[in-house]
Amino acid sequence: MADNNLDSLFSRLGRFPDVEAANLQAWDATDKLLLDTAADLLAAGSLHPGSRLAIVGDRYGALTLGALALGGFNPDAGSPGTTSAAAGSWNGPVRVHQDLITGERALRHNAGKVGTTGGFEQHPLGAGLLAGANVVLLQLPKSLAELEEIADAVARHAAPDVVLLAGGRVKHMSLGMNAVLERYFSAVQPQLARQKSRILLARGARPVDGIPPFPASGFNSELGLTVCARGAVFAGTGLDIGTRFLLEFLPRIPAARHAVDLGCGTGILAATYARANPGSRVTATDQSAAAVDSARATAEANGLADQITVLQDDAMGTLPPGSAGLILLNPPFHVGAAVHAGAGIKLIEAAGRVLAPGGELWTVFNSHLHYQPALQRLIGPTREVGRNPKFTVTASTRKSPGV
Ligand SMILES: C[S@@+](CC[C@H](N)C(=O)[O-])C[C@H]1O[C@@H](n2cnc3c(N)ncnc32)[C@H](O)[C@@H]1O
Repeated sequence: MADNNLDSLFSRLGRFPDVEAANLQAWDATDKLLLDTAADLLAAGSLHPGSRLAIVGDRYGALTLGALALGGFNPDAGSPGTTSAAAGSWNGPVRVHQDLITGERALRHNAGKVGTTGGFEQHPLGAGLLAGANVVLLQLPKSLAELEEIADAVARHAAPDVVLLAGGRVKHMSLGMNAVLERYFSAVQPQLARQKSRILLARGARPVDGIPPFPASGFNSELGLTVCARGAVFAGTGLDIGTRFLLEFLPRIPAARHAVDLGCGTGILAATYARANPGSRVTATDQSAAAVDSARATAEANGLADQITVLQDDAMGTLPPGSAGLILLNPPFHVGAAVHAGAGIKLIEAAGRVLAPGGELWTVFNSHLHYQPALQRLIGPTREVGRNPKFTVTASTRKSPGV
């Protein structure tokens, strides 16, 4: 696709409903490089016109909408193996997996903005996404565990001739990524870098069977808890040091009829709180599909599934105002690859909405982030309950309306 067409498409994309800021954009040079490389391979005949395309890790829709603009699609050619009529078009809808619910929503929102109706389907990572795919475009994830889960799924479910184009920012790429891909593909070729992005081209999927490596599980003897984790989840089966510090105060955290573990990750806070407060109903919620799958598995593995409800949602958007007596939060401080306090503030703001008057938000954060003014303003009176060389734990009480 001509560069200026892609530029004009990308210039219309936003990150909404994710955090928007002047220094945060909805696409990056890797999206462009992946699309240009796919177009070059199609033009050179190295990819067949009428390939079935799957996309993994599309942040806000740039890859999906760019791929549709690049190749169009043939809606009548939905089944694997059927050839598409138009050269360069994808066979059937473009299938896409995004871990974050905000990314899924942003893709749909951006599709509406640029007037794309149909042509893509959103799927969980698995057979529905990948069965019969001949081409997979991947924005390389941050963690090797997440890459391993994706590589396993591609090798397991895609067509045997699948070509995987895995792109990333050079500064975030490591030789460990090549090593992971080499376990699942017989040929992994790094391509020339452009604008500080690079693609690893993998082909020759090795046969995979047996039990998938994720979700993994491990027994944490410090907590006496089995922790389950998909590849993409924060801290894997381990215990984050901030979470560990917050849990030192568990005996002082009040019992609530309904408590929420906001940004639950593997659900360690939900599970330990639920176990300590058998009379409480707990909601474990996260924007990440990998996180909620992990939290569900953690609840089940510890016999807490009846007490813990798991919900994939952006900042508790579907929970009614005033519906929780307690919220536990170890907030994120990254938005994608960028360190940005906006993601944490968004969750504190959400806690202010969902807490009932008199309810409490208990949170832990890197002391340099100075969240206290925001906690005071968005929740109410805030007291420091603990501090160590790195972290601060605070408890904030939701003020009554009008106070
Ligand atoms: C620092 S991790 C904490 C995970 C877990 N509570 C723990 O203590 O191990 C922050 C979590 O917040 C989630 N998160 C970030 N923004 C979110 C949002 N807008 N809505 C829901 N969850 C969000 C991330 O996916 C991540 O799992």
